[in-house]
Amino acid sequence: MKRSLVFLACNVFICGVSIAPAPAAAASAKDGETVYNARCKNCHGADGSGNPAIAKMMNVTMKPLGSAEVQAKSDADLKRVITTGVGKMRPVSGLSAADADNVVAYLRSLKK
Ligand code: HEC
Repeated sequence: MKRSLVFLACNVFICGVSIAPAPAAAASAKDGETVYNARCKNCHGADGSGNPAIAKMMNVTMKPLGSAEVQAKSDADLKRVITTGVGKMRPVSGLSAADADNVVAYLRSLKK
């Protein structure tokens, strides 16, 4: 009787490499505050309540950034406001994606 030997090649693939995209660096409200002070504060005021002189000059009601109405927006919406503008607010130019994320994180810290 012939004996055949069957060799089973077992290839074990160990999938140790995650296919998930690398997580973006966590947004920093502290770095966002620096951006806010440089780029937003003149119009929106130190606490986000709005600079009355700017509101008067632009003839617009500025919603406090900490108000429920503004805070109800998603992070993506807030970023869109910053990068494309809204109503009488012109887009804020020259911000990196990280700057925008950070400033949104800072806006969240203004929540009343
Ligand atoms: C030149 C003045 C000016 C600057 C600078 C400015 N804003 Fe505004 N912003 C406005 C005005 C005016 C409005 C109200 C627009 C309207 O309702 O027509 C507004 C509205 C907003 C709103 C509310 C949007 C909404 O839909 O109610 C957010 C959020 C906001 N600004 C964030 C920012 C951030 C963050 C920065 C800095 C990166 C910034 N703004 C810089 C003038 C400015």
